[in-house]
Amino acid sequence: MFNLAKMLTIFIYLTSICCFFVTSQNVLSRDILPQNVSSLNTSPQDISPQDIWYIYEEPIEGLKLHDTLTLKDGTLMIWMTLDDEEDPSCILPYFYLRLIKRTGRITYINLNYTFPLEAVCPIDMTFIPLSYNYIMVIYVKSNNGVKGKYGLIINYDSEIISEIYLGNVNDDIIISGRLEKGFIRIEEYDKKGITAWHWFSAPDITTGKVVELESGEFSVPNLLSYTFVNSFNFNLIDGGFGYAYILKYDEMGSLATNDPNIQYWKIYVSFLREGTYSPTTPSLVYQTTTKLNSLAFKSCFYNIAGYICIVSLNNTITNKDQSRTEVNYYQLEFLTTGSFVQFGMVPKVISNADDFDLSSLVYGGFLVKKKNTNTTARNFYVLDNNGNYKTKVSFGPEFVHYNMFKRNGTLLGIKKQTGAEYDNPAIESTKPAINEVIDPLINEITIKYGIPVRLSTANVSIFQLNDDPHKPSLLRQTIAGDSELCTIGSDNHTVHIPIFSSTFNQPNSSYHVVVDNNFVISQERNEPLLGINEKTWIISTKPFKTGQHSVSVTGLLRLNEEGRQMNSK
Ligand SMILES: *[C@@H]1O[C@H](CO)[C@@H](O)[C@H](O)[C@H]1NC(C)=O
Ligand SMILES: *[C@@H]1O[C@H](CO)[C@@H](O)[C@H](O)[C@H]1NC(C)=O
Ligand SMILES: *[C@@H]1O[C@H](CO)[C@@H](O)[C@H](O)[C@H]1NC(C)=O
Ligand SMILES: *[C@@H]1O[C@H](CO)[C@@H](O)[C@H](O)[C@H]1NC(C)=O
Ligand SMILES: *[C@@H]1O[C@H](CO)[C@@H](O)[C@H](O)[C@H]1NC(C)=O
Ligand SMILES: *[C@@H]1O[C@H](CO)[C@@H](O)[C@H](O)[C@H]1NC(C)=O
Ligand SMILES: *[C@@H]1O[C@H](CO)[C@@H](O)[C@H](O)[C@H]1NC(C)=O
Repeated sequence: MFNLAKMLTIFIYLTSICCFFVTSQNVLSRDILPQNVSSLNTSPQDISPQDIWYIYEEPIEGLKLHDTLTLKDGTLMIWMTLDDEEDPSCILPYFYLRLIKRTGRITYINLNYTFPLEAVCPIDMTFIPLSYNYIMVIYVKSNNGVKGKYGLIINYDSEIISEIYLGNVNDDIIISGRLEKGFIRIEEYDKKGITAWHWFSAPDITTGKVVELESGEFSVPNLLSYTFVNSFNFNLIDGGFGYAYILKYDEMGSLATNDPNIQYWKIYVSFLREGTYSPTTPSLVYQTTTKLNSLAFKSCFYNIAGYICIVSLNNTITNKDQSRTEVNYYQLEFLTTGSFVQFGMVPKVISNADDFDLSSLVYGGFLVKKKNTNTTARNFYVLDNNGNYKTKVSFGPEFVHYNMFKRNGTLLGIKKQTGAEYDNPAIESTKPAINEVIDPLINEITIKYGIPVRLSTANVSIFQLNDDPHKPSLLRQTIAGDSELCTIGSDNHTVHIPIFSSTFNQPNSSYHVVVDNNFVISQERNEPLLGINEKTWIISTKPFKTGQHSVSVTGLLRLNEEGRQMNSK
């Protein structure tokens, strides 16, 4: 028998936002996020995040959710780790991955490999999916005192295929937009902004072997009076890679600093594709005469109209004697031919969070994720192709992790790992609460679930704990969910369970309520829900039935007191 209490359960919600814009794929939008985006706070049509939910039960004790990844075929990958009790920034040196297929089939990868301390303390490890049934765990390891990046190629059967060297710890490993095209390693740029790249193949289907296909360099356009500041890379949907360069006008090296026509900042992009393996000549996609403090890339993503990069512009505006510094976000849009499409400000109503993220939706429109550091709750806003607010999806603070199936526009939220106290993530609260001292005359108890439920066939039972912990508890009442005695509140979340007058008839005693699995099922999916194990939901009865007794206690004490005084005389 499984001990469900020992099992970690992960509660996953899936909510579909896919079908808002079934528009023609031919629509070429030139005006993605206009200034006049309507306020995101007017929300006429919030969608409930409870479309579909799913519980994953982890059989290995102590594992915790670390991260998730979604694949195009609909597979959800859950990376599980073991905490290092001594240092919260570290994990134990093992790798566990769970793959949940669309069909619900789960593959457990438990790697028999001990990673070096450099990889796990603090955590300097990640993984990428490769094509077929291969995965690469990327981690840092010291070799003769020199830290480097390594890739351990494994398969879905937890077998180790090979280990490859992936360069310096600061090199970027970027997976191709098409897994069968492999991945690329981009080295750190040098002072002049020259960067080497190495393109690796996908694993061979049968041997799992990965080889370096080609290597070369991304070179900054050689412009007099401009210095390289930074770069940003991103993948292309055709399997290639994009590389953006930020250049700044070098005032020191020039005389004409007061020329109003000087372009202070320039952005170039270059594209690298399979076959030619030679980056395209960098194309100028943006330049400005404003003397910005800084300019940086935040993210780049594909849109039906081309590629959109979100860039931040830090600018100090001086007005008379006053000056203020502000950071604004812009969307820079271009095509892979290198031609510029547009540059427009991301409306403040989108960027006014501690952090935000923008991505395009597969059926058109945009998804905005706003993050505030003070809470794990998230609001997602769906905008149409013209940037008009369409709808909002909210996840409460009980959610701790988010992801998305991009292919079908489904958001995924993961709840805190246990309904902590109840060892059941589906349960929000109960009345009475755990350890509450109750009046023995109460006529019902209630359980509030996090999702809409229906009553099912299993029982809920109340036991009186034996004073002798070695003796079994005494059954006081048991009711089946579908017995017609239990009812569901109008919210569809709360189950009311009647209490017989004899159940709590012992004052000053402890009782526990046991809810069997399948006492309720989910309304959406008819899936049985976990219950509450023995000795978890413990409640006690008050020592005496009514206030009457306590009055006489006071009286008794007074009498004793007087008696003592009398005796002492
Ligand atoms: C999208 O894909 C996920 C993962 O396969 C699946 O669970 C979900 O039901 C899909 N959503 C829709 C609307 O098809
Ligand atoms: C793990 O690997 C070691 C050596 O590589 C081997 O001796 C051991 O039997 C393996 N354990 C399991 C459970 O496969
Ligand atoms: C903007 O630039 C100024 C001057 O370089 C700097 O002090 C400030 O921290 C920057 N602001 C942000 C939010 O990056
Ligand atoms: C978190 O911060 C946001 C914005 O700063 C604020 O609107 C919200 O009320 C805060 N929430 C909590 C729970 O403090
Ligand atoms: C519920 O409890 C009754 C009485 O103890 C028992 O006969 C029945 O088998 C239980 N039902 C389930 C589904 O365990
Ligand atoms: C509760 O469930 C019933 C039956 O499925 C449904 O008709 C009703 O609208 C639901 N109520 C709420 C508040 O969701
Ligand atoms: C209630 O029970 C506890 C433990 O059995 C006992 O120590 C305590 O004296 C009892 N209180 C009263 C008022 O009977």
